[in-house]
Amino acid sequence: SNTKWERIQAAKEAALQGGGPERVAKQHDKGKLTARERLQVLFDPGSFREAGALVQHRCSDFGMDRQQYYGDGVVTGSGTVYGRPVFAFSQDFTVFGGSLSESHAAKICRLMDRAVEAGAPIVGLNDSGGARIQEGVMSLAGYAEVFLRNVNASGVVPQLSLVMGPCAGGAVYSPALTDFTFMVRHTSYMFLTGPEVVKSVTMEEVTQEQLGGAATHTTKSGVAHGAFDNELDALAGMRELLAFLPPSNREQAPRVPATDPADRSCPFLDYVVPTNDLEPYSMLGVVQQVVDDGQVFEIAQDYAKNIITGFARLNGRTVGVVANQPAVLAGCLDIDASVKGARFVRFCDAFNIPLLTFVDVPGFLPGTAQEYGGVIRHGAKLLYAYAEATVPKLTVITRKAYGGAYDVMSSKHLRGDINLAWPTGEIAVMGSKGAVEILFRGKGNDIAKQEAEYEEKFNNPFQAAKVGYIDDVILPRWTRQRLCAELETLAHKRAWRPERKHGNIPL
Ligand code: COA
Repeated sequence: SNTKWERIQAAKEAALQGGGPERVAKQHDKGKLTARERLQVLFDPGSFREAGALVQHRCSDFGMDRQQYYGDGVVTGSGTVYGRPVFAFSQDFTVFGGSLSESHAAKICRLMDRAVEAGAPIVGLNDSGGARIQEGVMSLAGYAEVFLRNVNASGVVPQLSLVMGPCAGGAVYSPALTDFTFMVRHTSYMFLTGPEVVKSVTMEEVTQEQLGGAATHTTKSGVAHGAFDNELDALAGMRELLAFLPPSNREQAPRVPATDPADRSCPFLDYVVPTNDLEPYSMLGVVQQVVDDGQVFEIAQDYAKNIITGFARLNGRTVGVVANQPAVLAGCLDIDASVKGARFVRFCDAFNIPLLTFVDVPGFLPGTAQEYGGVIRHGAKLLYAYAEATVPKLTVITRKAYGGAYDVMSSKHLRGDINLAWPTGEIAVMGSKGAVEILFRGKGNDIAKQEAEYEEKFNNPFQAAKVGYIDDVILPRWTRQRLCAELETLAHKRAWRPERKHGNIPL
């Protein structure tokens, strides 16, 4: 009857109000959008459909039975991003501070279960005061149910987090378990224990922003992979990232129509590597020359800048780019770069994204800080990740490929499919100066001659090409053309690993 429908209609309208106009105004005053406004920006216009708008909490302690809001502090549902299905939850800070109750968690869990079965990405928009204090262990149980699903969905569907407000205590572990986390500058923060607790335990005085703001997590801790100036930019960034990714591990990334010719030559690249070995150049510039339309979506752009990771396209196909950056720390691998690279490589491998690696690496960064920090263990992660990856692996050595770092960086020995070098490639155990010092210590009378001999033998790609560790030495200008053609051939590559429960990557 009409009255039944009216009652439901009223409830639905109440749900749209969230915590009411005053709290919504407070949210807007902070420069933040509401949970539903964010979803409107994330999804294609009009495509979002909500599930569970009428859910309410079941708590009666602390007078909670008299405080009810439809939706219980989280909006869940699905829609399309660039025409392809995506699931999302968006925490509503205007309802109990977006805090997580039993019912709130159950909504997120249902959404995640449906996304995994549908084979579509999950996006989480986090803005929450943490565990719903009135619900005690029911709320903690809710978190664990979400974490379990994060783990089980890992490598099955892409999981992306965008932190748009507080995210503290146990709440941080859901974003931490997802593939990529973005933050908004000055309005979002993540930490396990807040500034007050930090002060009382360690006497350190630190602000929320210093402790867990976007700058902290994208430059120092590596917890987040992208920082944006405002919510609109962050949501647009999320859409852009989704456009590169396959919906699940069952499918390939979508191929977009390419307008950049696959056989385009890049004459600039013939001159990019300086004749002086010690002089830096921008590897990002090299990558931009090679990929479609110069577009690289960098992941963790501000963290461990000595390695570049990001998504790009070759002839319309998504590739995951990993590249040493000689302009920072001479492109050395260190702890942070190894971890950054390894996690990216594993994401690409899990989601059928071919790996494109550019190598100019003088080795691992020396020093006690690195050794005490466990650079052996962390460097092994990158090695492990490349070795286990079965996606197409294309590698270009632009200059140095020295020592163990040569092996690590997608070498032929780790089942690189196509390993190319430019004529400036140098594949050696170390640079000529160091090599001669060790080889001829005390016995050398003509050091310049010895160095020249060593360079003649090793500081070029021919030794490696002779034994087939390099498939070809190419003129830099033809790098794009060659890579596009090779990728076409490898598009349906299948490779198998021995059966096992799981490997034991050195953590
Ligand atoms: N459980 C239940 N309600 C919560 C909550 C939680 N964890 N966190 C916030 N709220 C409620 C507040 O009671 C307030 O309700 P009201 O609108 O009815 O007054 C509303 O959410 C907004 O919180 P408020 O404190 O006014 O917002 P703020 O922007 O000033 O501060 C926080 C935000 C997150 C810093 C602050 O709310 C806070 O410290 N919350 C508790 C965090 C915590 O310790 N969580 C448990 C550990 S996981």
